[in-house]
This record gives sequence, structure tokens and C-alpha cells, in this order.
Amino acid sequence: MSLGTERFLLIALVFSTGCIVAQEHIATHAINPLAGSSVAVAAGQRLYRQACQACHGGEGRGDRGPALTTSNFPHGSEDVDLFRSIRTGIAGSEMPAFQKLTDDQVWQLISYIRSLNGSAARSNEVVSGDPAEGEKLFYGKATCGSCHAANAKGGLLGPDLSAAGKTAAQLLRAKILNPNTDMNPRARGRRGPSVVVVRTDDGREIRGARRSEDTYSLQMTDTAGKLLLLDKAHILDERYEFNSLMPGDFGKRLSQPEIQNIVAYLKTLNGRDLAKTTQVDIPGGLTYERIRNSAAEPQNWLTYWGDYQGRHYSSLKQINTSNVAQLQARWAAQLPGQSSLEATPVVVDGIMYTTGSPGTVVALDARTGQQIWRYQRQQKVVNPYEINPFNRGVAVLGNRVFFGTLDAALIALDSRTGLPLWEVQVDDTMKGYSFTSAPLAIKDKIIIGITGGEFGIPGYVDAYDPATGKRLWRFNTVPGPSEFGHDTWLGDSWMRGGAPGWLTGSYDPDLDVLYWPIGNPGPDSDAEIRKGDNLFSCSVVALDPSTGQRKWHYQFTPNDSHDWDATEDVLLVNRVFHGQNRKLLLQADRNGIFYVLDRTNGKFLLGKSFVRQTWNDGFDENGRPKIIPGTAASPEGTVVYPSGGGGNNWRSPSYDPASGWMYLVFTESGERYVRQFEEYEIGREYWGGRGTRIPGAVDTAGVMALDSETGDVKWRYKISQASSGGGVLATGGGVLFAAAGDGNLVALDSKTGTLLWRFQTGSRIGASPMTYAVDGKQFVAISAGSVLYSFALPDSTK
Ligand code: HEC
Ligand code: HEC
Repeated sequence: MSLGTERFLLIALVFSTGCIVAQEHIATHAINPLAGSSVAVAAGQRLYRQACQACHGGEGRGDRGPALTTSNFPHGSEDVDLFRSIRTGIAGSEMPAFQKLTDDQVWQLISYIRSLNGSAARSNEVVSGDPAEGEKLFYGKATCGSCHAANAKGGLLGPDLSAAGKTAAQLLRAKILNPNTDMNPRARGRRGPSVVVVRTDDGREIRGARRSEDTYSLQMTDTAGKLLLLDKAHILDERYEFNSLMPGDFGKRLSQPEIQNIVAYLKTLNGRDLAKTTQVDIPGGLTYERIRNSAAEPQNWLTYWGDYQGRHYSSLKQINTSNVAQLQARWAAQLPGQSSLEATPVVVDGIMYTTGSPGTVVALDARTGQQIWRYQRQQKVVNPYEINPFNRGVAVLGNRVFFGTLDAALIALDSRTGLPLWEVQVDDTMKGYSFTSAPLAIKDKIIIGITGGEFGIPGYVDAYDPATGKRLWRFNTVPGPSEFGHDTWLGDSWMRGGAPGWLTGSYDPDLDVLYWPIGNPGPDSDAEIRKGDNLFSCSVVALDPSTGQRKWHYQFTPNDSHDWDATEDVLLVNRVFHGQNRKLLLQADRNGIFYVLDRTNGKFLLGKSFVRQTWNDGFDENGRPKIIPGTAASPEGTVVYPSGGGGNNWRSPSYDPASGWMYLVFTESGERYVRQFEEYEIGREYWGGRGTRIPGAVDTAGVMALDSETGDVKWRYKISQASSGGGVLATGGGVLFAAAGDGNLVALDSKTGTLLWRFQTGSRIGASPMTYAVDGKQFVAISAGSVLYSFALPDSTK
């Protein structure tokens, strides 16, 4: 009697003395009577998709419920145990009891689950041969490494083999001896290995592997491993050959023991090993010098703000004031997920890198929207109190794409494959930490600031090594006990001081200074319990990028109680200011004031309201704001302009060097700010009071142009009430694109604010427009809802 059977009898006994309902839970067999039946596996798969997939994920990979692909189940791994888990559910968990399924149906499910375990079981298969010798052969004599990579080392033509060990040794051997072996014969609709061969109108014949394709475009990797984005208008002839690109003579070139060694090596590869991928030198890709000189290649959009200076401006001018009326949607990419899109894509040489819902990153053919790769990461830890389920984009440096996750991890992907290179767990989302915005890649560092200002975190800005993910420094945005500014916090209030660094900052490569905008103090509305200025909340900090040391700071709103994050773009411009050439820093702050600072020393030069504000009565000689008494949040509620949403917010403004004007989407609104004592609970929202709308007040919103020398408003263009969800983009063609929260993308004359063109995207917009060009054609992209659109002029337009 096997152990399983023994246990089965025991259960039967226990339950047979129990109630009648319980008896229905008992399996009539100890082992699956349908084991080995492929019909049962197929039936189980159908049932699984209907009843289980929503929780356990596609092919049992795990989602809300655990993965079912292992052969080791904590609630019991014998057939009879699985039967019980399914029939009676798992008490105290989300796993329901499936009492209405017949015994046969439960066994079919178990057959299916066991078929998933197959791959796990196979990866433990013992094979003879020397893996170390096999690895040498793989990258040497056998040339496998010229086409295949394992853990980021090797070529890109063939599939990545980092998980080859999950395939049966026999099948691997068969593939080497006969490349036309189909590795996945069960996959529906596949016709085995194939080669795509195209002839182009410039006389080339290209062979390679297909990555993606539609009627008008083809994305393929040629035999040298180079990604080609082809326009079918230039393809004369395309055909598939149903054979492999792998050489067919390994059986002759390699001895039996050599092949065995290679198989033994492949069997050691059981999934991407990030300890190995961080050791691989990955040359090439986007250089720091190119990002630094991004103005020289306006066809690309190399960094979140379009340039290091945070100008969010493009000199492209194919689309101009006289032809923009003909602009039309050229493609749309659907990126459905749990949240609407807020990212600004990065474009490098015809490839667009952007994020969908948090955890999803895609590389698209920027001309067609066709997907080149997609990376999707399941959030490891979910804070049920999360309030910012968004991601705003990536940074690219070298052949790496960097992004942050909601569970506070920073990740590097290989930009050529979308496969992970490293992942660092920066913090714990259960304490309220997360990442929502795009990192900034400077010469040899990845800079990213943490989100969590509404959760009483003490914030920070970090720098990481692009190659390994090692942390290089941290700047505490709430100074600790021995740090400068610590005494601007009452008692131990600094420990819950907020001041997140979540929005992407700017960088001056000539001065070699980072400028980072810092968010609201915590708790948002209760300034009483944290008396003092609360540095560096609601400030901009200038940091030395090699050490993270502060050079200077300027605080826009001391001891704020209005949620006036200073997390708005900081624009670095060199221009004449009152007759002098100066290095300036511009910011239209959430507190309703437009600021001009000298960015070499942080000196205040100008502060001027750009929307109605009722808290500030000018500035003293040091640039410190004179706060009108009685404007802080109070227990009875204090009416102040602007609202917590602010006069401006994090979406992109734009600086046009031709006019010297800054453009932005603004809101005119106020709020009744309420302070209320709130007990801090780790990982939960910590506001210290919530504001309310002013009864009867009507908010207005619009797009405006500001003279950046005087702060004077040059023009305003009204958009629908309280719809300031999007950002703007000024272009060399004299066209200002502006996205309104109500779903409209509009093109205005940047000189006058006159409407030239508009498009209703059909969904709320929470993103900013950007532009790029491929093969001389200019595109304008914007995300709305879960769709990313790209617009261009009709091909016939002159
Ligand atoms: C509503 C979500 C949900 C659905 C639907 C669901 N499960 Fe589960 N399942 C879970 C969770 C959560 C657990 C983990 C319980 C625990 O360990 O606390 C679980 C556990 C299990 C286990 C035990 C795994 C172990 O580690 O021992 C098995 C087996 C299982 N589920 C199979 C199924 C099958 C088969 C179906 C469909 C008929 C199904 N589940 C449907 C959520 C779900
Ligand atoms: C000239 C390039 C080239 C060389 C050299 C090459 N391969 Fe491949 N290999 C491919 C391509 C392309 C595919 C995908 C199409 C196919 O299945 O044939 C592939 C497929 C495979 C697969 C199946 C992977 C899957 O997920 O379907 C395995 C395993 C494999 N190769 C192993 C090897 C090994 C081991 C060597 C060296 C002995 C080798 N290859 C040499 C190009 C190459």
C-alpha cells in the first residue's frame, strides 16, 4: 500500500464518520484513474480555462493563486491530495470548493495539472556528459553561441536558450542532429521551424527569422542577428521555407560525446539566471554622448523629457502650421491592463520603448506599432492600499531598458530581446513605497526617485550602476538625524516625512548637476504635527551625480499643507534674462507660481502667479515666499487657491527655444483644505485630513504660453472644465500639441494659441504628446486610455 493510499483511507474513515456532505468530498480512487489519457488532459485543459485560469494563470503559471506547474504542492502532492484541494477548496484562502464538478472532471483537471508538471519534472532529468565542456563547445567549435544566447551571452538570431533545460534531453539531442525537429509539435497552428526570405527593391535578398509581421510591414532578424524593420512597399517577394536556419551537419562536425556534453550543458539552463546576466559585457546600443547631444538627432526621443534639459521640445518641422490640419492617425497599439497609460515613450532609431500597465514594457516598430517584444512581470507583492497604479515610462542606455515597478523594484531589460538582465528590490511596497515614473540614464548611472508621499514614507532619490544594478548612492529627501535640514522637522515627524522624488528630474551635462523635483511632506494636510520648513519637501534639489551630495536647494512651499508636490518638470534653459545670458531653471509649480532660478547657485530670480493663487504675498530678498497667514489647512477647512491638484501638475510642459516661451496645461481651481489628526499605520494612506471642493465653484482649465523672462501669460486656450489630464509639446513647425483630459489631442499655433487640428481619442488622457521621425516621416504619439496612438501626415502631403 502506497503512502498515498494509506492517507486516502484515513481521510475516507474520518469523513465517513462525519456528515453526509463531507462524504461527497472524498475521492473514490487514491490515484488518478484517468492518468495517461491525452483525452483527459485535453478535457482538463478546457475545464481549467473556464474555472481555474482566472486565478492560477495561463498554463498554471500562477496569478492570484499559486503556480500549478511544480510537482510539489504544499497542500499535498499525491493525486488524492490534489483531488481534495479541488473538491473541498482550501479553507481560509481564496481557493473555492468545486463541489459541482463530477469525479471524472476533477480527475481530468488533475491529468491536466500533471501534464504541466511534466516540464518541471523534465528539468530535473539526469543526463550524462560534461556541462563545462558543453558550454565551451556551445560558444566555440559548435558555433551555437553565434546564433543563440543563454543568460544574455551569445547571438540573437535563434531563440534564447536560457531555459533550454526544461526541454527533454532527447528532444534537445534530436534538434541538434536534425534541426528540422519541431520543438513544439503540440502548439496549434505552428508549422515547425521556418526561415523567411525576402527580396527588396534595392536588390537585396535577406534570409532570417521573423519577429513580427502585418500586411504592410515585416520585422525580422537577419542571419547576422540584426533586427530589420521592413516596409513591404519595398519588398518585391517574400517566402517562407519550412526548414531551420540551424546548420544540418552537427552530426558530422561533432562527436557523440561532444553532442552529449552540449546537451548536458543545455540541461543546466533552467531559466534566466540574473547572477549570470549581470556578468555579461553587453556592448553597443545608445551612448551617453548621443543622449547628451540629442538635439542633433531630432528624429529620436532619447529620454523621458526628450532631452536632459527637461524641455520636452522637438525641432522637427515636417508637421507645421500650414499642413497640420491634414494630420491623421497612422497606427494604434493596444496595451490593455489594470490602469490607463501615462507613459511618454522613448524612440531610438525607429524602435519605440514604452510601458503599458505597471510591469509591462514593450518595444514597437515606431513606424507601424508592430510589437518587437513584450516583457510582462507579475507584481510580486501587492499593497492593497496602492493608489498610483501607473507607470510613466523607461530610460534607455546602451543595450538596456530600465524601469521601476509598483512593488518598488528597479529592472533592466536587454533592449534587443526584452529579457531581464537584473532586478533590484529597492524597497517594500507594503510600507507604501513604489516606483511610477521613468528613471533617468546619465553617463554611468541610472537615477530614480521613490513614490509614496501619501503613505508617510521618508523619500529618497537613488543612483544605480546600469550594468549590475548595484546601488551607488542615495539622497535622503527627508534628512536623517545627522543630515542638513533635519532640524526643519518637529520631533520625530521626519520619520514619516514623505517628500517623494517620484517624477523624473533633469540634468545639466555641462555643469554636471542633477536637478530633482521633490513632492509633498507627509502627512499631506497636517502641517501642525511637523512644524518647520520640512526640507526637502516641495523643493528642487541640485545634486552632484557622482556622489548624490546636495549642492543647493530651493523650497517652493515651506511647511506645505496643500499637497503641492513640486514634482513638476524642471526646465534648464540658457537664455537672456534681463539683459544677461544666464543658465536658468524654470518651473511652473503646483502652488500656482511660475519660478525662474539661477541653476548655478539656486538663486531666486522670479516668482509670478500663472493661475489664481491666494496663499502667497511675494518673496523676501532671499526668495523665500511670504505666506499669507491663515492659509494652511485647518480643522474647520480653509479655502485656498490653487487646489491640491494644482495650477500645474506632473504632465509635460514644453519650452520653445524660438519664442523663449514655456507652454503648459493649467487648472484654475481652489479647495477647502481640511486638517485632521490621523494615526500613522504602516503601508496605508496617511493624509492628516482631506480637502473638499468649494461649493458652487467652477473650475476652468486650459493651455497657456508664458513668457519665461517675465512670467506674463502670452495667450490662453480654454479646454473643457477640469480636464487638465495631459501635457503639451512644442515643435519646430510652430505647432503646439496639447492633450486634454477629456480625450482630445489638439494642435494649436504656438504663437497665437489658435486651434489648427483636433482628434478625439475616445478615452481620458493622462499622458503627454511626444514626436519622432522614421525614414524622414514625422509622427506624433499620445496615449489615451489603454491605447497608444501615432499620427502623421498622409504620404502625399508636401
Ligand atoms: C478565486 C481564485 C481561485 C480559483 C477560481 C481556483 N483557485 Fe486553486 N487556489 C487558489 C489559491 C489562492 C490557492 C492557494 C491556497 C493556499 O495555499 O492558501 C489555491 C490552491 C490550489 C491548489 C493547491 C495547491 C497547493 O499548493 O497545494 C490546487 C491543486 C488548486 N488550487 C487547483 C485549482 C483548480 C484545479 C481550480 C479550478 C477548478 C482552482 N484551483 C480554482 C485560488 C483559486
Ligand atoms: C546559424 C544559426 C544557428 C546555429 C549555429 C545554431 N542554431 Fe539553434 N536555432 C537557430 C534558429 C533560427 C532556431 C529557431 C528556428 C528553429 O527551430 O529552427 C534554432 C532553434 C534551436 C533550438 C530550439 C529552441 C526552441 O525554443 O524552439 C535549440 C534547442 C537549438 N536551436 C539549439 C542549438 C544548439 C545546441 C546549437 C549548436 C550545436 C545550435 N542551436 C546552433 C539557429 C541556429
